[in-house]
Formats: sequence, structure tokens, C-alpha cells
Amino acid sequence: MRRVLVTGGAGFIGANFVRYWSERHPDDHVVVLDALTYAGNRENLAGLESHDAFRFVHGDIGDQPLVESLIKEDGLDTIVHFAAESHVDRSIHEPDAFIQTNVSGTHTLLKVAREAWLDSDSAPGDHLFHHVSTDEVYGTLGRDDPAFTEKTAYAPNSPYAASKAASDHLVRAYHHTYGLNVTTSNCSNNYGPYQFPEKLIPLMIVNALNGKVLPVYGDGSNIRDWLYVEDHCRGIELVIDKGKKGETYNIGGDNEYANIDIVSTICSALDKLFVTQPELAKVFPDAPAVKGDRTDTLITFVKDRLGHDWRYAIDATRSSDTLGYSPQEDFNSGLTRTIDWMIEHETWWRAVMDGSYRDWLETNYD
Ligand code: NAD
Ligand code: DAU
Repeated sequence: MRRVLVTGGAGFIGANFVRYWSERHPDDHVVVLDALTYAGNRENLAGLESHDAFRFVHGDIGDQPLVESLIKEDGLDTIVHFAAESHVDRSIHEPDAFIQTNVSGTHTLLKVAREAWLDSDSAPGDHLFHHVSTDEVYGTLGRDDPAFTEKTAYAPNSPYAASKAASDHLVRAYHHTYGLNVTTSNCSNNYGPYQFPEKLIPLMIVNALNGKVLPVYGDGSNIRDWLYVEDHCRGIELVIDKGKKGETYNIGGDNEYANIDIVSTICSALDKLFVTQPELAKVFPDAPAVKGDRTDTLITFVKDRLGHDWRYAIDATRSSDTLGYSPQEDFNSGLTRTIDWMIEHETWWRAVMDGSYRDWLETNYD
């Protein structure tokens, strides 16, 4: 039985992970520490808060006394570290928070873990700091380049990617220097339930349902590898259970698509849905299909993202050979599940999009 601290557990992947983990490890004690930034939402954890084995703490990973007391009072032996500023566009406009949370915040967690698990008389017998990172630390690929392996040299291009790379190095150094038990996973673009509608897939679904422009950066040829969030959670579980201490593992979806193809696929899926479910017209009266128009008429090519990485691709051979990892969700079924979830959870996305996010979006993309 583990006693787990999940940082950033009210965000997209963190909340999916907490749900996944709590179902598969019902005896584990799980504490979520989350600052509830614009991206964090307690609603994402609805239904879990009544469990005795679950506790939510509203706070910052950079608050050292708070993290110290949590680890000690709850006797935590495992940290699964998701908390981060995660949106590349925001990092380009306002990088400071990325350095604060992703670099300094991660360092605070490592310091406290070291003190509690290596330097204290009451240290637990076993411990693990699992760090959730990204494939963006490896930089960008050309069309014919081989996919990123764990041995690919780091070449982060955005302030977000640089902050994640810095945090990966700190995690590695705490293992090498102090002997802290750590593992790191670097994964590709996640999609699925509870993703904040600033990232490509949920933003396109929401805008299309509302009859708003679908802004495609540049010429839309940029390629990402898409990973259904549940597959990511399964990959992290495998690393926690079977990973070698000090090792890093790539987790991918084996689903490379150009952005324009993703957006076009979402448009055709919505066109079909409005035919098979005519009642949607009442809920989303501004959707193009309601007027008999195709959803892809909303696609608009806009100014490219600064420093936009062209392609990411993951070689997950180490994870598959040593952990038995393989993604299970097919992209078409994963996208259908995601669109259905967004349609069923209109109240959720309208609520999370309220407020400052909308102002930010409007000033940055007109
Ligand atoms: P997200 O932005 O949806 O959620 C981040 C969560 O962290 C939010 O709940 C937020 O409130 C919380 N948080 C932010 N700053 C905090 C702080 N200082 N203290 C405590 N909590 C704080 O992010 P996500 O997409 O779920 O990503 C989770 C992790 O996975 C991140 O580390 C990200 O770098 C990594 N990752 C994400 C993807 C992806 O496609 N989304 C891919 C690879 C890696
Ligand atoms: O690769 C893993 C990374 O994936 C994670 O580390 C990041 O946290 C996560 O945000 C994601 O980064 P991306 O920049 O790849 O994701 P995003 O959804 O922002 O954009 C995906 C692609 O779509 C990218 O090429 C930019 C493009 N895009 C995005 C938005 C929001 C558009 O063309 N239009 C848009 O409106």
C-alpha cells in the first residue's frame, strides 16, 4: 500500500490519474496538492472527495512548510508530480510563472522529499518521486528524423519546454547526488476528458460547437503524436510499479497527425453528429451544422506560434520492452470519446472557460 502525494491533481492529466489510480489501488491513501490556477478545477475530482482515503489540499508546491507538513503528517512515501504551468502559448507571452512553478516549485518538492525520505529518522522504508515530463524537452523533428528516444539530447525551444527540461535535470541530479529514488516519464500530446479548452483538441471542439473561428497556426502542417490520457496514466502506473530508479521512460500514443488533419477530423465528426443527433441543434444553436453549413468553414489560418516546433514523435521501445507498455486507445475511438465527453459536459467547459481565460484568449487571438 502506498501513501501518495499527487501534485497538480486538479488539472487535466492529474485528475485523470487520480481517478485511474484510486480505482485500481483503492487501499492507497491519496493526497492531492493543487494551487487551483486557471487550469485547476476541483470539479475534476468530483466524486472522489467523499472517500476516506482521499484528501484535497489547496496550496502551492513552492510552499515549503506546507509540503513538509503534508509529507510528515500524512506519512507520504510517493510523489507523483504533475503540477506545472503547461501551455506553450502562455509561456511565450508570460514565462515567469513557468520558471516559478516548473523549476523552483519542482526544486522545493525535491528538497522536502530528500529531507523527509533520506535525512529523517522517521523516513519510510521505501519511497519514490515520479516526475511527469514532456517530449518537448527534446526539441523539434524534421519529417524523416527518427523519433525521440530517451537518449536524444535535450534541445527545448519554448520557455515552457526549457522549464520542463530544467526540472528534469533537477530530478536527475537529486538521484545522482543524494540517492533520492526518482523516475521520470516524457510523454507526447495528451487528449481526453477534463482537458482545459486552451489546448488544440478541446479548443477546436468548443469553438466549433459555438460557431467560433477555428484558429490553425501557420499552415497547419505541424505534427504531434496524440496520446489518450488513460494510456498515459497506465504508462505512469507501469513506471511507478516496475521502473528502474533513476531511469527515464518515453510514453507515446503511436498516433502522428498534422494539426490540420486533426481539426478537419473534428469538423467532419461534428457534422455527422448533428445529423444523427438533431437535438444537438437546440443546445448548440450557433454550430454551423444547424444552418446547414459544414463545420470546416470555420477553419482560419492565423499567425504562427513563435518558435513553433514542427514535429514531435516518440520512440517508446524502452517502455514497451522493459515495462510492457503499449497504448491501447485507437485515435479515432479516443477522439470520438473525447467529443462525446465534451458534448455531455457542456456545463463543465463553460464554467472553466469563464473569467480571465476568456479575456486572455481574446487579447491574444483576434
Ligand atoms: P494542466 O495545466 O491541465 O494542470 C496543471 C495543474 O497544476 C492545475 O491543476 C494547476 O492548478 C496545478 N498547478 C499549477 N501551478 C501549481 C503550483 N505552483 N502548485 C500546485 N499546483 C499547481 O496540465 P496537464 O496538461 O494536466 O499537465 C500535467 C503535467 O503533465 C505537466 O507537468 C505537464 O508538463 C505534463 N505534460 C502534459 C502534456 C499534455 O499534453 N497536456 C504532455 C506531456 C507532459
Ligand atoms: O508534446 C507534449 C506537450 O503537448 C505538453 O508538454 C504540453 O503541456 C501540451 O500543452 C502540448 O503542447 P503543444 O504546444 O503541442 O499543444 P497545443 O494543444 O497547445 O498545440 C498543439 C498543436 O496545435 C501545436 O502545433 C500548436 C497548434 N495549435 C494550437 C492551438 C491552441 C493551433 O494550430 N491552434 C490553436 O489554437
